[in-house]
Amino acid sequence: METKKTQLEQIAADIREKNVCPDLAKHATNLVMGDGNLDSDIVLIGEAPGKNEDLQGLPFVGAAGKFLNEMLAAAGLDRQDVYITNIVKYRPPNNRDPLPEEKAAFWPYLLKQLQVIDPKVVITLGRHSMEYFLPGMNIGAIHGQPKRVQFGDHTIVVMPLFHPAAALYNGGLRQTLIDDFLKVPAVMTQLETLPDRT
Ligand code: URA
Repeated sequence: METKKTQLEQIAADIREKNVCPDLAKHATNLVMGDGNLDSDIVLIGEAPGKNEDLQGLPFVGAAGKFLNEMLAAAGLDRQDVYITNIVKYRPPNNRDPLPEEKAAFWPYLLKQLQVIDPKVVITLGRHSMEYFLPGMNIGAIHGQPKRVQFGDHTIVVMPLFHPAAALYNGGLRQTLIDDFLKVPAVMTQLETLPDRT
């Protein structure tokens, strides 16, 4: 039986071999697969690497990452307790929004990562990852509200949150995101009783 680490390395190797998003790959320093605890019950999914992430090969290591670490700590979680990744795994030029075709190209690999890690809860950070787990929903309306979602033969709880970079310098949004993060421990204890996606 392969270890989770080996299985995740294989997913990275597949992305390189299949030449996923060659236009992004051409300009990227690193493929940023993810970081953290491979046995965690919680996986956080952002948008795409930025400049610092591209240089270090790790997700959320810039200003948004610092804010994310603070919110995790406020919720009683250490960064090493969770696994963090992005929907798009190469940095888009000048940090532009990832294109629909870039998100679609990386989506199957994100699903494979989730199959390997097998978390109970997925926390989406921002609308780019939310729209794949909760299609057609509006983040402004459903942020902080966990929903059970069926994926094949798996049920996971998806907790849609705003993106830390969007909330960092916006006072109202910042407090909303902090408040939503503080709900995570209660969500972890109520997993069976949460509403299905409606
Ligand atoms: N923003 C993201 O969405 N992901 C990162 O890894 C860093 C910033």
